[in-house]
Amino acid sequence: MKVVLGKRGVKRLLDRHLWVWRGDVAAMPQKAGIYPVYGERGLLAWALVNPASLISVRVFHFGHSEDPLAQLWRNLENAWELRRRYYSAHPEGGVRLVHAEGDLLPGLVVDSYARHLVLQAHAAAWEPLLPELARRLQDLSGAKSVIARHDSPLRLKEGLPRYVRVLSGEAAETAVLREGEVRYRVALLTGQKTGAFLDQRDNRLLLAKYAHGKNYQRALDVFAYQGLFALQLASRLQEVEVVDSSAEALRAAADNAALNNVENVSFNQANAFELLRQREREGEKYDVIVLDPPALAARKSDRERAAAAYKEINLRALKLLKRGGLLASASCSHHLPEEDFYRILAAAAADSHRLLRVLERRGQGWDHPTLLTVPETRYLKFALLEVVE
Ligand SMILES: C[S@@+](CC[C@H](N)C(=O)[O-])C[C@H]1O[C@@H](n2cnc3c(N)ncnc32)[C@H](O)[C@@H]1O
Repeated sequence: MKVVLGKRGVKRLLDRHLWVWRGDVAAMPQKAGIYPVYGERGLLAWALVNPASLISVRVFHFGHSEDPLAQLWRNLENAWELRRRYYSAHPEGGVRLVHAEGDLLPGLVVDSYARHLVLQAHAAAWEPLLPELARRLQDLSGAKSVIARHDSPLRLKEGLPRYVRVLSGEAAETAVLREGEVRYRVALLTGQKTGAFLDQRDNRLLLAKYAHGKNYQRALDVFAYQGLFALQLASRLQEVEVVDSSAEALRAAADNAALNNVENVSFNQANAFELLRQREREGEKYDVIVLDPPALAARKSDRERAAAAYKEINLRALKLLKRGGLLASASCSHHLPEEDFYRILAAAAADSHRLLRVLERRGQGWDHPTLLTVPETRYLKFALLEVVE
């Protein structure tokens, strides 16, 4: 049984992308699984295949393989090898052990929270492999537990059932982590994503460094979730306000503030768009503003509307910042290329009559590796900007 690609599908793989859309496949087996992929001239690759998914072919190995399943497990060992040192050195840390296509393990993410692993498999071919995957992850890392957080709606697109299940070990409901000087609790079974946004870990630590030793007083952490940017700032500034629309996120943020014994953080359940406008009307001023919205362009067709929304929040934030202040602005939309994000920031700067110095132009942390020819693997944009005037 094999997959045969049409012309466009062959071109995709020759260009070293890993995905082939269903419409670019000429023939494929009717059952999800691991299959060889052929073009007119012969074998091209091995892939996780699902005829029910829009992305029907997800390559994990180019060329011939005697034992494709062994190759998939080798990819897992390579992913572990990249993180092994960090994992050993940070027993209370958070680190992404598997970053899907970036690790040639398509559709699979595995995050480690103080040695509790939380995984999400969004490609159907992983489903029968989950018990062995959990065993291998524990053997490699010596983790305390492996949990499948399969409650995302993305699973439905693959025709997969939704559930949350402990795959192995002694799972806990929460784990307490350390990030620099900050401690925080992760809800392993119910938190957003797999529990935390590890992709911003290094950017949070970086912002703390920039805020160190400055005479900054007031900060606003907008779209804050469990308040991790705010907590990095709390020991360095006089007051920090956490803003999120989710009551659950704010409860987690308050819990984390208590865990760190900080009393200069306030919590505000609000729609960020309205709050920023209101603060501008009231003439409020801040030294540091963080904007870390959810993916505003979830689909390609959302791009224009999302661009307007990104511009709106950045424009408002720039009007609220004092001279010399910092704007940490992020976008995690796959469908918004980095150049477009910076073009939007520049337009917001022009409209608010501010001159901005780019202190840092970053993306997701090193443990979320990207593939040069698969732009979707580089989704996070993070700009740290100083208001010159
Ligand atoms: C990418 S997460 C933030 C992650 C966080 N900065 C961190 O480092 O852990 C986006 C957050 O925005 C919140 N959110 C979504 N829409 C919102 C809105 N209109 N106003 C305020 N918060 C919103 C979500 O509840 C979520 O917690």
